[in-house]
Amino acid sequence: MAKLKLGVLISGRGTNLQALLDAAANPSFPAEVAIVISNRPGAGGLERAREAGAPTLVVDHKGFPDRPAFETELNAVLTDAGVELVCLAGFMRLLTPTFVNRWAGKAINIHPSLLPAFPGLDTHQRAIDAGARFAGATVHFLSAEMDAGPVILQAATPILADDDADALAARVLEAEHEIYVRAVRWIAEGRVRLDGARAHVDGVGAETSYWLPAENGRV
Ligand code: GRF
Repeated sequence: MAKLKLGVLISGRGTNLQALLDAAANPSFPAEVAIVISNRPGAGGLERAREAGAPTLVVDHKGFPDRPAFETELNAVLTDAGVELVCLAGFMRLLTPTFVNRWAGKAINIHPSLLPAFPGLDTHQRAIDAGARFAGATVHFLSAEMDAGPVILQAATPILADDDADALAARVLEAEHEIYVRAVRWIAEGRVRLDGARAHVDGVGAETSYWLPAENGRV
């Protein structure tokens, strides 16, 4: 069967991109990375993509007069590459409703919190400061509102008493890699259905959201 063509948008180090590249290296994975686009020329993820033999392109937002012009180019590049699913992976530009509508149901994001809690930046410190007991990560469809949109998959991890933001981020990041690959697989298998504000995954029960226990069992 033809593989789903992914267009991965990055701005930085690209560990989620790496997880997708590693998954796609397995011949049985139902998706392939058709192109990796960075809006920052120095993004570490570009090197990861090159090493994996994936096509890369820099579309530097600074080279465009405004957001629509930048997005017109982004759209053109994604379309030319035959992209069927846009995967935001640490992409640090807000996308306008025009872009979001063009890719409605065909663009997903990974966010390091249990949405709808803690959209935006600095999620781990904010979760610690709020005294939350759980943190986690969310894969969701893109919507015009930032870090919103139908949830496809979440992973939860406890916040330990001695966690700082870095320790928590490291634990959540492992979960991110796990669930991003899993969500892409489900979409490629045609199992994810959008139903208004909710996404349903066919043939998936309790596995849809899963719990990652702390290594030492403390909660
Ligand atoms: C991740 O925490 C992701 O959830 C957020 O940005 C970070 C990107 O990390 N959107 P990386 O570039 O994938 O390592």
